[in-house]
Amino acid sequence: MNQPTYDGPPDYRAVGRHEVFPETSHDQTERYNFLAHLNRHLAHSVMPGVAEAYAARVEPAFRETHGRPPSRRREVRKALAADSLHQTWSALRRNTMEMRQQAGLSVVLPQLGDLISKARHLIPQGRLRLKPEMQPPEYIAAVDHHCMPGSYYAERTADDVSGAANYDSGMFVTTGGMLGRYTDGGGRGVVEYIQRHNPDWRPRRILDLGCGLGHNVLPMAAAFPNAEIVAVDVGAPMLRYGTARAASLGIDNVTFVQADATDLSEFEDGSFDWIQSTMFLHETSCKALRRILAECRRLIAPGGLVIHIEQPRYDDDMPVFEQAMRDWDAFNNNEPFWTKLHEVDLDQYMIDAGFKPEELLHGGVTAPPDGALFPDAAEDDAEDYGRKAAWHITGARVAA
Ligand SMILES: C[S@@+](CC[C@H](N)C(=O)[O-])C[C@H]1O[C@@H](n2cnc3c(N)ncnc32)[C@H](O)[C@@H]1O
Repeated sequence: MNQPTYDGPPDYRAVGRHEVFPETSHDQTERYNFLAHLNRHLAHSVMPGVAEAYAARVEPAFRETHGRPPSRRREVRKALAADSLHQTWSALRRNTMEMRQQAGLSVVLPQLGDLISKARHLIPQGRLRLKPEMQPPEYIAAVDHHCMPGSYYAERTADDVSGAANYDSGMFVTTGGMLGRYTDGGGRGVVEYIQRHNPDWRPRRILDLGCGLGHNVLPMAAAFPNAEIVAVDVGAPMLRYGTARAASLGIDNVTFVQADATDLSEFEDGSFDWIQSTMFLHETSCKALRRILAECRRLIAPGGLVIHIEQPRYDDDMPVFEQAMRDWDAFNNNEPFWTKLHEVDLDQYMIDAGFKPEELLHGGVTAPPDGALFPDAAEDDAEDYGRKAAWHITGARVAA
């Protein structure tokens, strides 16, 4: 008889560690495990019920009232908001975000002194450039993104790394391990994409925009050890922690720079042959986005490659129910630019920024499953929550 196979989230004890990774006690580890299982339960067992409730009662009730099916995401969102199962799913999901953040802070804050001193010792000379006078962009400073207290910018104390340590410590829980032990599935997917489409290409200078604590830029640095990589972000705690983390993981070709991607005037025109971002654009704004793309056009070298990785745009071939569910984060998880980014015509923005229509490129990136977490995943081609994640690429290969 076939034994049932376990397909739940991996145990937190499998998370990828390094010298600034926060330690967890037994109870803290199990709290994280509980949250990962709750997330999984919501996605696997409760969310399908929301789809059924939509088909069985929400959509028919809308039709009855309006004489037509909902045709816009906003209509679906409002109709769903009155449904009890959707309310249950949504409230639980919001609570998992809150609980994950509080769990992370309860791990990080008691050991913050140790983490700061480890980071200070690990940061190599010349690999971190901070600008103490720099303020986070106004368009996002007031928001605690995805319920993260202080977002990416809070400085709780001198040389603070707490926000980044919290982010790193709990991301494995939020994603159920699907981005791998080191939460670097996006970066590993981009490397796979580059190697598949440009096998002989050896970029010399790479710019990563909105690098956060560097989860996704490190696989690129490892894949191109002779390249010089500049990773920019506005959040000093992310950059301090990221520089220490990179050093601890043996990566020595990334310089972390505090800079606003809307104004990168400290770098010369045409000085990077690969500019990329992962999950960055949705945390900007329309105005900032235009400036960022213009900076990409200015900074890219002739023949260079620009790629931005994000979730797919909401267009007409995505059912309105799916659009509404994907849009949950905008209204319930403090992602103010989420909806707008998924509506804008990024190609047109790229063209407005100076890229030629024939230079534009599109593609897909999938996070390769981490074999250490999911040993049978290589044989498993099915799209499966908990093992695979996929994003869209919008970019350009500029003329040589
Ligand atoms: C969702 S995180 C993505 C981090 C990273 N790219 C990753 O894949 O893990 C978005 C990051 O963008 C940064 N950010 C937002 N606006 C920025 C700007 N104008 N310039 C530079 N960084 C910015 C935030 O501080 C945050 O660290």
